[in-house]
Amino acid sequence: MKLASLRELFLHELQDIYDAEKQVFDALPKMAEAATAPDLKNAFAQHLKQTEGQVARLERAFERLSEKAKGKTCEGMKGLIKEGNETVKLRGDDATRDAALIAAAQKVEHYEIATYGTLCTWAEMLGEREALTLLKQNLSEEKLTDEKLTKLAESHVNVEALVR
Ligand SMILES: [Fe+2]
Repeated sequence: MKLASLRELFLHELQDIYDAEKQVFDALPKMAEAATAPDLKNAFAQHLKQTEGQVARLERAFERLSEKAKGKTCEGMKGLIKEGNETVKLRGDDATRDAALIAAAQKVEHYEIATYGTLCTWAEMLGEREALTLLKQNLSEEKLTDEKLTKLAESHVNVEALVR
């Protein structure tokens, strides 16, 4: 494809995260099922709901931009989710598996945070205020999810894995 302008690049990246969010939506139930600690299970389940809302916000953003909502396969997320699925299949100690699931999920969150950070900057530069508001909301949810996962890991999951 040709990238002739910042607006085209912005739309291209928006299609990428739209596909990425859908991939996350499909992967999270498996992560929730694989988790053992109830608070980690809840965190994954809650983020599944949030992700559904994020997909809807992206659809609104496409609408505000007078563009059709469509995804473009996000190869980066595909790789991260492939790794996540391998973690889901791991056997062994529960706390250690939970620690591995948190690590895999945080890689996904950081990827999303990077993309939304870029998209917010470009939306602002392009004067797309409505899209910016929606993208900022998604960015803030991803950041909060990442912080929550760090808290779960540091408050007990990592420690439990360490003492096995
Ligand atoms: Fe997300």
